Amino acid sequence: MVAMMMRQGGTRLSGSMMTMLGARLFSHSAAGTTSTAGRGFASGGNSSLVGFLRGSIPANDAGVNWIVGVRSCSTVAQQEVQNSGASHASSAAQAADSNKEEKEIVSYWGVPPVKVVNKDGTVWKWDCFRPWETYQADLSIDLKKHHVPLNLLDKLAYWMVKALRMPADLFFQRRYGCRAMMLETVAAVPGMVGGMLLHCKSLRRFEQSGGWIKALLEEAENERMHLMTFMEVTKPRWYDRALVISVQAVFFNAYFLGYMISPKFAHRVVGYLEEEAIHSYTEFLNELDKGNIKNMPAPAIAIDYWQLPPDATLRDVVMVVRADEAHHRDVNHFASDVHFHGRQLKDVSAPLGYH
Ligand SMILES: [Fe+2]
Ligand SMILES: [Fe+2]
Repeated sequence: MVAMMMRQGGTRLSGSMMTMLGARLFSHSAAGTTSTAGRGFASGGNSSLVGFLRGSIPANDAGVNWIVGVRSCSTVAQQEVQNSGASHASSAAQAADSNKEEKEIVSYWGVPPVKVVNKDGTVWKWDCFRPWETYQADLSIDLKKHHVPLNLLDKLAYWMVKALRMPADLFFQRRYGCRAMMLETVAAVPGMVGGMLLHCKSLRRFEQSGGWIKALLEEAENERMHLMTFMEVTKPRWYDRALVISVQAVFFNAYFLGYMISPKFAHRVVGYLEEEAIHSYTEFLNELDKGNIKNMPAPAIAIDYWQLPPDATLRDVVMVVRADEAHHRDVNHFASDVHFHGRQLKDVSAPLGYH
């Protein structure tokens, strides 16, 4: 089948540390430990987990392990391929039923399946992150640091976040696991929106970003990993999912508009949101310590992402997530301060690797 499709031509595979503007935001000790954490991040991927790539296209017992599409070929050819693809998909589905082994997708574009393996030769089991993206959280970060609202914009951001907390308290009450999971569905939005807008701005203006695009996207990815972790702890119910859809629809657009109008305000809001997140995770820890929430073993995904010991518990996970939130707090308050001082983010080196 692949040979036939190749003859038809063309396929489509479907498929200086950051500049310190405000010493009150970043202490030297915090900055120092962050650098260390950053190095740990890099070296951790190379020493403790040392993943390496191994490209191979293993034979598939069922012979159904290829999926190709078509590009730059006729409509007829496309139809044929679609038809064959459909029948192929059908046979693949049948094969999948009879054989639960994972199937590789083979494409004649010459992109081989990549297997990432650990140092001991075992297969790295996560596709959503790789060994070199894992790190050890910086637990020494100051959790009590707070940006005192100085001007009207700060006060507006502060009280807006405080007001948003009230309905969250009412809805979740002491369901901290669920609360954390829902919080992360919101927390992962600002970084992506801000990164996307800075990306477009960089393209429009033919200018560099100062590394802020990557920094904000990194934050979004880190927040999403928080969600992937808490999903393993708390399973969302239908009304949780409905709430996420509604909140995301509103929050994404509101933040998008807010960032367009005033990135200074948008980053300040996120800074305060992160302060609230630290507070929420501290309460979560208190409930764990009191025994009101069972301190279950840490999810496997968390153990690998934060390089936790095999016997790590939920408490350990909440600790590292809370440390991440403190870093997000600092990054966003710092970004807001850059604007407060009349400068642009592109002029100030971004805090890369600042989980
Ligand atoms: Fe988070
Ligand atoms: Fe966060």
